Amino acid sequence: MSHSEVLRFRDGPLTLGVIGLGYVGLPLAVEAAEAGIRVVGLDVSQRVVDLLNRGESHIQDVPAERVAALVQAGRLEATADPARLGECDAISICVPTPLSKTRDPDVSYIVSASEAVAGALRKGQLVTLESTTYPGTTREILLPVLERSGLKVGSDFYLCFSPERVDPGNPHWGTHNTPKVIGGITPLCTEVGAAFYARFIETMVPVSSAEAAELTKILENTFRSINIGLANETAVIADRLGVDVWEVIDAASTKPFGFMRFLPGPGLGGHCIPVDPHYLSWKMRTLNYRTRFIELASEINSEMPRFILGKAREALNRAGKSVKGARVLVLGVAYKPNIDDLRESPALDIIELLEDDGAEVAYHDPFVASIPEGEPGGPRSSVDLDRDALSDADVVMVITDHAGLDLNLVWENAPRIVDARDAFRRRGFPVADSWIVKGEAE
Ligand SMILES: NC(=O)c1ccc[n+]([C@@H]2O[C@H](COP(=O)([O-])OP(=O)(O)OC[C@H]3O[C@@H](n4cnc5c(N)ncnc54)[C@H](O)[C@@H]3O)[C@@H](O)[C@H]2O)c1
Repeated sequence: MSHSEVLRFRDGPLTLGVIGLGYVGLPLAVEAAEAGIRVVGLDVSQRVVDLLNRGESHIQDVPAERVAALVQAGRLEATADPARLGECDAISICVPTPLSKTRDPDVSYIVSASEAVAGALRKGQLVTLESTTYPGTTREILLPVLERSGLKVGSDFYLCFSPERVDPGNPHWGTHNTPKVIGGITPLCTEVGAAFYARFIETMVPVSSAEAAELTKILENTFRSINIGLANETAVIADRLGVDVWEVIDAASTKPFGFMRFLPGPGLGGHCIPVDPHYLSWKMRTLNYRTRFIELASEINSEMPRFILGKAREALNRAGKSVKGARVLVLGVAYKPNIDDLRESPALDIIELLEDDGAEVAYHDPFVASIPEGEPGGPRSSVDLDRDALSDADVVMVITDHAGLDLNLVWENAPRIVDARDAFRRRGFPVADSWIVKGEAE
């Protein structure tokens, strides 16, 4: 027989508070609201609050029509007032977890969100941290702040960690159909949390503790970082050997078992893969353990912008030109195809490295109208992609191959092309080599 609290969270009328309405929080809020749950979204950005309350959306994966319909129906509302958390039965925390300048975890957003929850905490509430973080955060940071209220976890309120796995731009896997791992501070916390999320997420995966859920998320992202690191090192190895890395990866991918395809590229980007493994490294340093795989992958991955820059230098050199004074057109600055996210994008590092070497750099990206001031390579605006822009450039670099990129136009007009994504070969263009796909012969 299920505990009455589990039944309340499974079936009862509930209000959900979502703290942080970004790439993770907004899809979650919309999914829950569409499942009939009343949602109050809390964000420190008044701009985001106003925009959502007008029925607009600042997240590419969430169409404004979905937001507008929910706002109009009174099922979704945004606010900057933390006192509104008092109305909520469940509270999900989706705030950023960046690295500090010294590449240590910056948990200040989690701390301030916990303070906001503590200020409104009442009996019977479920609090779930979704932000990616190191194992121990839920128990060591959130729990003490919440228990200052005198309320007891597991009986008066429930506390869980349940990582978000959203993959922005992925047309098949969203919040609703991606299985969700959850681990509570007590077994009842896990049961209550899983019962609640199952209202709008197809498959729940309960684990035995908050720490197990925290480590699961970091394992997933570390797995990607390390395998991308291996693909990148293979690219460097193949380059020295004079072998085409793309051909080798394609051939290895024909093995029906025991091999998983990862691709090399210009470097890691986004808020997750380059950042999250360092949360674990930091935690393990406090336990006197050095996470060698993580460090090595990070070192290899962060050398890739220079590797790609080296290819532009080589392409120019073959034509008797130098990077200094060269006109370079960068195609795609978002960190991956078909999205507008610039966070940690290696394209920005490449632009900065090119400029440090004296190149004149322009970029084109249909998803990113401008690179803001304060970002490497910013401020600057996207230029139009036309014959003149392409033929005026000494070298064109494909850093992110968005789906709509007119490869024919680029191929016909650019004198030299460095392709960091294998875009041309994959589409059957007669490429000259793995990276410098068009230009003077060696
Ligand atoms: N972006 C992804 O693809 C992705 C995927 C899985 C997990 N995650 C994790 O989810 C978390 C959130 O990432 P994101 O990409 O949604 O970040 P984001 O920057 O898109 O959104 C975070 C939002 O939180 C708001 N915020 C910050 N502090 C706040 C506070 N104290 N109270 C209320 N609002 C506050 C910000 O204004 C912003 O709107 C991170 O831990 C991230 O690692 C992200």
